[in-house]
Amino acid sequence: MSAPNKSYDPVEVEALKPEEIERMRDEALAAFAAAADLQQLQEAKTAHTGGSSPLALANREIGALPPQAKADAGKRVGQARAAVGRALAARQGELEAERDARVLVEEAVDVTLPYDRTPSGARHPLTTFMERVADVFVAMGYEIAEGPEAEAEWFNFDALNFTPDHPARQMQDTFFVRGPQGAGDDESASGVVLRTHTSPVQARALLGRELPVYVVCPGRVYRTDELDATHTPVFHQIELLAVDEGLTMADLKGTLDHMVQSLFGAGMKTRLRPNYFPFTEPSAEMDMLCYVCKGASVGNPDRPCRTCASEGWIELGGCGMVNPRVLVACGVDPGRYSGFAFGFGIERMLMFRHNIEDMRDMVEGDVRFTRPFGMEI
Ligand code: PHE
Repeated sequence: MSAPNKSYDPVEVEALKPEEIERMRDEALAAFAAAADLQQLQEAKTAHTGGSSPLALANREIGALPPQAKADAGKRVGQARAAVGRALAARQGELEAERDARVLVEEAVDVTLPYDRTPSGARHPLTTFMERVADVFVAMGYEIAEGPEAEAEWFNFDALNFTPDHPARQMQDTFFVRGPQGAGDDESASGVVLRTHTSPVQARALLGRELPVYVVCPGRVYRTDELDATHTPVFHQIELLAVDEGLTMADLKGTLDHMVQSLFGAGMKTRLRPNYFPFTEPSAEMDMLCYVCKGASVGNPDRPCRTCASEGWIELGGCGMVNPRVLVACGVDPGRYSGFAFGFGIERMLMFRHNIEDMRDMVEGDVRFTRPFGMEI
């Protein structure tokens, strides 16, 4: 009796025949070789190694075979799949290398090319600071008012109670655009000047608005000064006007204190010193507490303060109760209404707020000056 014939295996499955397996392998290798890029290779990979690829389907047939056939077919399919896997990895490597080389060429940046982008700008600190001051008042319900920079002499001076012989009306102080046209003292007969302050907007606001009036007016003003470290012929002011029933100097003082606290922090305050302006009565010069030393430098040589020159106070601008003559000139009944106004220079405030030593830095437009203030918008 002979021993069982272990190599005899009668079952044959078409898909597992050696030539079939070779054909599947070769087709896979051909497809990988033909893939021109990684995308095509990915498609070939799915077709020839995915779950429904011929080799995967063939592999599934193996389990049903008798032992010897199973071993043979398993070996054949295993070798074919290994060869396909190697070919795939090799082609993948080639195509990736090709892609990387192409990207290096196509996406190369020539850092020696001239720079052609316009650098992004920043708004000028004068503008942003002026808006910040105006915002303090807008938050209290004030409206922004504007007026022309080439202003009627009548608004700039006459309506504000400047007498005809006031020194500010002379050519050495004021830029005249046009002299008076004919006789008479009404607005049409008025000359035209570049406004020397934002106060003409007071008169414009009173004439153009319903009472009560609460307006803030930031704007550009002109005086015939030479440009130097502390003067500029063009600068900016911010003007405030409130006209209502029952307003007093206490309202003015409270408003000023609120403003400096909003801009410079808690604990700040202002003080008023007597002064004269034709359009306010009484008038005052307003100072604010030095926001750096808070007055601690006064009489204290151990703690000098550069910001206020150890004065303890910083001069801000002018203020006062609106002169009844101005109210009358603008058709407002001074028996019923009263008001307060103040105005100050933005450049000056910006200078001490940021330790800017030379006013020219603010007008020359050099971005190296503007940049440290940031991209505030
Ligand atoms: N217009 C004045 C100036 O330019 C400032 C000021 C405004 C004074 C309002 C009083 C009231 O100096």
